Amino acid sequence: MELFKSKITGTGKYHPTKVMTNEDMSKIVDTNDEWIVQRTGIKERRIADVETEYPSGMAEFASRDAIKNAGLTPDDIDMIIFSVTLPDYLFPNTAGQLQEKLGITNQCACMDINAACTGWVYGLQVADSLIKTGTYKNVLVVGTEMTSSFNNWEDRASCILFGDGSGATVLSRNEDGDGCEIIDSILSCDGTKSQSLILKKGGAKSPISHEVLDKKEQFVSMDGQVVFKNAVKTMSRHCATLLERNNISKEEVDWFIPHQANLRIIETTAKLLDYPMEKVIVNVDKYANTSSASIPAALHEAFVDGRVKRGQTLLFAAFGAGLTSGAVLIKF
Ligand code: ACO
Repeated sequence: MELFKSKITGTGKYHPTKVMTNEDMSKIVDTNDEWIVQRTGIKERRIADVETEYPSGMAEFASRDAIKNAGLTPDDIDMIIFSVTLPDYLFPNTAGQLQEKLGITNQCACMDINAACTGWVYGLQVADSLIKTGTYKNVLVVGTEMTSSFNNWEDRASCILFGDGSGATVLSRNEDGDGCEIIDSILSCDGTKSQSLILKKGGAKSPISHEVLDKKEQFVSMDGQVVFKNAVKTMSRHCATLLERNNISKEEVDWFIPHQANLRIIETTAKLLDYPMEKVIVNVDKYANTSSASIPAALHEAFVDGRVKRGQTLLFAAFGAGLTSGAVLIKF
């Protein structure tokens, strides 16, 4: 069977207009700018307007850009893979909502992925496989998160971490012969640690009740230190594996674009990889942790401002609830 190559042909991003600074945060919970910056590197985040900036709403803006930048029209998209942790609705899927918003009339396949912050990386591997085997030519892979909808605004240890946003990419069959491709990817999940980052209530196992609402159990709960340790360990391990098995040295990687969870996690991962921070894309200071939106949004930002260029070797790594993790090595 002939195997095709896929490449990222278009990128886009959207962040809500409402800015919430650490100073604003300190009016809601007992915290301060110094603590947040020192522990996380976050200075501000964006908060969605529930009327228009719910997941499929934000994704429409990011996706329109990505499709246009790929030189395509919405009807060229063969499949939408939508990574989202808390979707527009529990069902139907959010990818279908986005399909309608984009005006796609070809009834393309639509699928949501819930791998939390690793979702876009999961989506990229799935899309790459489908393009490689010739099933599809153009797949829209979107990571969009309205974290403000599951944030516990009374828990200062977690609510300061998150922000809302969307990042979109179009992955296409590479017919240009320019050598750009998804070189390799690796995904994992450690279900034994699923309780360390979880939205416990509201699913089929534990439906919403008055008691749940009284105890505020419909919001995220997190053991920050377990998440931290696993994040740096798995991301650095996956990156090292990808480089080794593809015979690519870390010097050959032009940019490392990790999940923007917090600056200390990013710095520790880079240190474990012995990779220089000057070649790491960081924007967590401006947007906080936007979960699965963070890597595609950071890629778009760095491409638009000229740091990331076509033909460069890029390394992505992510981790999140599950506990999921993954990394992707590409020629952009
Ligand atoms: N402001 C001020 N003080 C605070 C705050 C706050 N926002 N939050 C906690 N504190 C206090 C604690 O109460 C504690 O006080 P004490 O010593 O008097 O008991 C002290 O600060 C230290 O608390 P720790 O929880 O030990 O702080 P730590 O150094 O572990 O940092 C943090 C906490 C930033 C959450 C860290 O554990 C972390 O980054 N973990 C990873 C979390 C993460 O990235 N989660 C999301 C990833 S997955 C995904 O993206 C969905």
